[in-house]
Amino acid sequence: MNKLCISLASGLLGLSVLTAANAAGPKPEDTAEYRQSVFTIIGWNFKPIGAMVKGEVPFDAAAVARHAQYIEMMSKALLEGFSKGSGPDAVKHTEAKPEIWTNWDQFNSKLNNFEQEATKLAEVAKGGDEGAIKAQFGKTAETCKACHKEFRTD
Ligand code: HEC
Repeated sequence: MNKLCISLASGLLGLSVLTAANAAGPKPEDTAEYRQSVFTIIGWNFKPIGAMVKGEVPFDAAAVARHAQYIEMMSKALLEGFSKGSGPDAVKHTEAKPEIWTNWDQFNSKLNNFEQEATKLAEVAKGGDEGAIKAQFGKTAETCKACHKEFRTD
Protein backbone atom coordinates (compact mmCIF):
# COMPACT_ATOMS: atom_id res chain seq x y z
CA MET A 1 0.00 0.00 0.00
CA ASN A 2 1.40 3.42 -0.86
CA LYS A 3 1.12 6.42 1.40
CA LEU A 4 -1.94 7.85 -0.35
CA CYS A 5 -3.80 4.58 -0.01
CA ILE A 6 -2.99 4.33 3.67
CA SER A 7 -4.14 7.85 4.45
CA LEU A 8 -7.26 7.38 2.35
CA ALA A 9 -8.07 4.11 4.08
CA SER A 10 -7.53 5.52 7.56
CA GLY A 11 -9.55 8.57 6.60
CA LEU A 12 -12.47 6.40 5.52
CA LEU A 13 -12.13 4.30 8.64
CA GLY A 14 -12.27 7.43 10.76
CA LEU A 15 -15.30 8.62 8.88
CA SER A 16 -17.16 5.33 9.28
CA VAL A 17 -16.42 5.26 13.02
CA LEU A 18 -17.77 8.79 13.29
CA THR A 19 -20.89 7.91 11.29
CA ALA A 20 -21.54 4.83 13.39
CA ALA A 21 -21.27 6.89 16.58
CA ASN A 22 -23.67 9.51 15.22
CA ALA A 23 -26.19 6.97 14.02
CA ALA A 24 -26.17 5.24 17.40
CA GLY A 25 -26.91 8.46 19.32
CA PRO A 26 -27.52 8.32 23.07
CA LYS A 27 -28.39 4.92 24.53
CA PRO A 28 -32.09 4.42 25.50
CA GLU A 29 -31.11 4.07 29.18
CA ASP A 30 -29.26 7.40 29.02
CA THR A 31 -32.21 9.12 27.38
CA ALA A 32 -34.58 7.84 30.08
CA GLU A 33 -32.15 8.93 32.79
CA TYR A 34 -31.94 12.35 31.16
CA ARG A 35 -35.73 12.91 31.12
CA GLN A 36 -36.08 11.63 34.69
CA SER A 37 -33.39 14.08 35.77
CA VAL A 38 -35.20 16.93 34.01
CA PHE A 39 -38.44 15.94 35.80
CA THR A 40 -36.55 15.80 39.09
CA ILE A 41 -35.45 19.39 38.54
CA ILE A 42 -39.01 20.37 37.55
CA GLY A 43 -40.44 18.73 40.69
CA TRP A 44 -37.73 20.27 42.87
CA ASN A 45 -38.72 23.75 41.70
CA PHE A 46 -42.48 23.17 41.51
CA LYS A 47 -42.89 21.89 45.06
CA PRO A 48 -41.80 25.04 46.95
CA ILE A 49 -44.14 27.19 44.83
CA GLY A 50 -46.94 24.76 45.70
CA ALA A 51 -46.12 25.05 49.40
CA MET A 52 -46.39 28.86 49.15
CA VAL A 53 -49.63 28.66 47.18
CA LYS A 54 -51.11 26.44 49.90
CA GLY A 55 -49.85 28.80 52.58
CA GLU A 56 -47.60 26.18 54.20
CA VAL A 57 -44.63 28.53 53.92
CA PRO A 58 -44.58 32.35 53.63
CA PHE A 59 -44.98 33.75 50.13
CA ASP A 60 -41.65 34.85 48.65
CA ALA A 61 -42.01 36.48 45.23
CA ALA A 62 -38.30 36.38 44.45
CA ALA A 63 -38.09 32.66 45.20
CA VAL A 64 -41.16 31.96 43.06
CA ALA A 65 -39.64 33.89 40.15
CA ARG A 66 -36.39 31.94 40.41
CA HIS A 67 -38.09 28.53 40.62
CA ALA A 68 -40.48 29.39 37.78
CA GLN A 69 -37.55 30.31 35.54
CA TYR A 70 -36.01 26.88 36.03
CA ILE A 71 -39.34 25.19 35.34
CA GLU A 72 -39.74 27.14 32.10
CA MET A 73 -36.23 26.19 30.99
CA MET A 74 -36.72 22.53 31.86
CA SER A 75 -40.07 22.42 30.05
CA LYS A 76 -38.13 23.23 26.88
CA ALA A 77 -35.52 20.57 27.62
CA LEU A 78 -38.00 17.68 27.85
CA LEU A 79 -38.66 16.89 24.21
CA GLU A 80 -35.24 15.37 23.48
CA GLY A 81 -35.73 13.10 26.49
CA PHE A 82 -38.52 11.30 24.65
CA SER A 83 -36.72 10.21 21.50
CA LYS A 84 -38.04 7.11 19.73
CA GLY A 85 -36.85 3.82 21.15
CA SER A 86 -36.42 5.05 24.74
CA GLY A 87 -39.67 3.48 25.99
CA PRO A 88 -40.28 0.58 28.41
CA ASP A 89 -39.42 -2.03 25.77
CA ALA A 90 -35.83 -0.77 25.78
CA VAL A 91 -35.45 0.64 29.29
CA LYS A 92 -35.79 -1.20 32.60
CA HIS A 93 -36.41 1.67 34.98
CA THR A 94 -39.01 3.94 33.48
CA GLU A 95 -42.56 4.99 34.22
CA ALA A 96 -43.07 6.18 30.65
CA LYS A 97 -45.94 4.35 28.95
CA PRO A 98 -45.52 2.91 25.44
CA GLU A 99 -48.54 5.04 24.39
CA ILE A 100 -46.25 8.07 24.33
CA TRP A 101 -44.77 6.81 21.09
CA THR A 102 -47.87 5.15 19.60
CA ASN A 103 -49.92 8.26 20.38
CA TRP A 104 -47.21 10.81 19.75
CA ASP A 105 -49.39 13.74 18.58
CA GLN A 106 -51.47 13.60 21.74
CA PHE A 107 -48.41 13.34 23.95
CA ASN A 108 -46.68 16.16 22.10
CA SER A 109 -49.68 18.44 22.49
CA LYS A 110 -49.68 17.78 26.27
CA LEU A 111 -46.00 18.61 26.32
CA ASN A 112 -46.69 21.84 24.43
CA ASN A 113 -49.50 22.77 26.85
CA PHE A 114 -47.11 22.33 29.75
CA GLU A 115 -44.45 24.42 28.03
CA GLN A 116 -46.95 27.22 27.39
CA GLU A 117 -48.31 27.29 30.95
CA ALA A 118 -44.79 27.07 32.42
CA THR A 119 -43.72 30.00 30.24
CA LYS A 120 -46.73 32.01 31.48
CA LEU A 121 -45.94 31.06 35.07
CA ALA A 122 -42.42 32.45 34.69
CA GLU A 123 -43.85 35.66 33.20
CA VAL A 124 -46.48 36.09 35.90
CA ALA A 125 -43.92 35.27 38.59
CA LYS A 126 -41.73 38.15 37.44
CA GLY A 127 -44.66 40.48 38.14
CA GLY A 128 -44.85 39.26 41.75
CA ASP A 129 -48.68 39.38 42.00
CA GLU A 130 -49.57 36.66 44.50
CA GLY A 131 -53.11 36.08 43.21
CA ALA A 132 -52.01 35.86 39.59
CA ILE A 133 -49.18 33.48 40.54
CA LYS A 134 -51.59 31.22 42.43
CA ALA A 135 -53.97 31.06 39.49
CA GLN A 136 -51.21 30.34 37.00
CA PHE A 137 -49.65 27.74 39.30
CA GLY A 138 -52.98 25.90 39.27
CA LYS A 139 -53.14 25.97 35.48
CA THR A 140 -49.60 24.64 35.21
CA ALA A 141 -50.26 21.87 37.74
CA GLU A 142 -53.23 20.78 35.61
CA THR A 143 -50.89 20.17 32.67
CA CYS A 144 -48.65 17.93 34.83
CA LYS A 145 -51.65 15.88 35.93
CA ALA A 146 -53.13 15.64 32.44
CA CYS A 147 -49.96 14.09 31.09
CA HIS A 148 -49.21 11.80 34.03
CA LYS A 149 -52.75 10.43 33.92
CA GLU A 150 -52.39 9.28 30.31
CA PHE A 151 -48.71 8.66 29.84
CA ARG A 152 -47.06 7.73 33.14
CA THR A 153 -47.57 4.50 35.07
CA ASP A 154 -48.54 4.94 38.75
C1 HEC B 1 -46.08 15.71 28.55
C2 HEC B 1 -46.09 14.81 29.67
C3 HEC B 1 -45.67 15.24 31.04
C4 HEC B 1 -45.84 16.48 31.63
C5 HEC B 1 -46.47 17.72 31.06
C6 HEC B 1 -45.26 16.37 32.95
N1 HEC B 1 -44.79 15.10 33.16
FE1 HEC B 1 -43.81 14.45 34.83
N2 HEC B 1 -43.45 12.66 33.90
C7 HEC B 1 -43.93 12.29 32.66
C8 HEC B 1 -43.46 10.95 32.35
C9 HEC B 1 -43.77 10.16 31.09
C10 HEC B 1 -42.68 10.54 33.44
C11 HEC B 1 -41.95 9.19 33.59
C12 HEC B 1 -40.53 9.32 33.03
C13 HEC B 1 -39.74 8.02 33.13
O1 HEC B 1 -39.84 7.34 34.17
O2 HEC B 1 -39.01 7.71 32.18
C14 HEC B 1 -42.68 11.65 34.41
C15 HEC B 1 -42.02 11.64 35.63
C16 HEC B 1 -42.05 12.66 36.56
C17 HEC B 1 -41.36 12.63 37.84
C18 HEC B 1 -40.50 11.48 38.35
C19 HEC B 1 -39.06 11.65 37.86
C20 HEC B 1 -38.15 10.49 38.26
O3 HEC B 1 -37.30 10.70 39.12
O4 HEC B 1 -38.32 9.38 37.74
C21 HEC B 1 -41.66 13.81 38.48
C22 HEC B 1 -41.16 14.26 39.85
C23 HEC B 1 -42.52 14.55 37.59
N3 HEC B 1 -42.73 13.85 36.43
C24 HEC B 1 -43.05 15.81 37.90
C25 HEC B 1 -43.76 16.59 37.00
C26 HEC B 1 -44.28 17.92 37.31
C27 HEC B 1 -44.17 18.60 38.66
C28 HEC B 1 -44.86 18.36 36.17
C29 HEC B 1 -45.53 19.70 35.92
C30 HEC B 1 -44.96 20.88 36.51
C31 HEC B 1 -44.75 17.32 35.16
N4 HEC B 1 -44.08 16.25 35.71
C32 HEC B 1 -45.25 17.41 33.87
C33 HEC B 1 -44.71 13.05 31.83
C34 HEC B 1 -45.02 14.37 32.03
